[in-house]
Amino acid sequence: MSMHIAAMPGEIAEVVLLPGDPLRAKFVADTYLENPVKYNDIRNIFGYTGTYKGKRVSVQGTGMGIPSVSIYVNELFRDYGVRRALRIGTAGSIRVDVKLRDLVIAMSACTDSGANKIRFGGRDYAPTASFSLLKTAYDTACALGFKPAVGPVVSSDMFYTEDPDEWKLWAQFGCIAVEMECAELYTLAAKYGREALTLLTVSDSLVTHEVTSAEERQQTFLQMMEVALETAIS
Ligand code: HPA
Repeated sequence: MSMHIAAMPGEIAEVVLLPGDPLRAKFVADTYLENPVKYNDIRNIFGYTGTYKGKRVSVQGTGMGIPSVSIYVNELFRDYGVRRALRIGTAGSIRVDVKLRDLVIAMSACTDSGANKIRFGGRDYAPTASFSLLKTAYDTACALGFKPAVGPVVSSDMFYTEDPDEWKLWAQFGCIAVEMECAELYTLAAKYGREALTLLTVSDSLVTHEVTSAEERQQTFLQMMEVALETAIS
């Protein structure tokens, strides 16, 4: 057991999918995994292990934001020997050509978070995806007929920013979408020498102020899952 995860050693697979929403973890386990077993319900942040196409896969909720994802990913890498972690989440588009429901693959993550300022004593660090996972996800997505947007994202500590135009500077510097966890996942993967990737579907647009419906989010989530699972077991 670690502090926030109740699993015994060996109960979590080397490959883990990471939705923010714990109920999404339950949905993934119920929908895609054979013989899923729940190994965690501490704080209702559910985690399950099962098999997908014969390979062991776990799915662990992380909660929202860098402090929360940091707790779960630290424990998964440090205490459970997880080798490959794929975040599956949603993001707000900050570019006109990244549309609602598009699939985004985060190549790297800029951030306004204090986490890496603390960790690196004020120096900058460039949180970056695993190239091999990124290539596999991109090729898989293209083979399935999707056209993923690949680029840097922004991992923000603030969903409700004081300045509603704050995203524009990030967009000017090439970022394509805003979410709240990727920078910490990539930083911790580098620290522990593991592989990580973030796949996102666009749930809203900061450019046009459009928002997807719950049904649309569910549909795009299913499409993203095809890419995530094939990449996870590759
Ligand atoms: N901002 C930050 N995180 C998000 C957003 C957003 O607009 N949409 C989905 N996750």
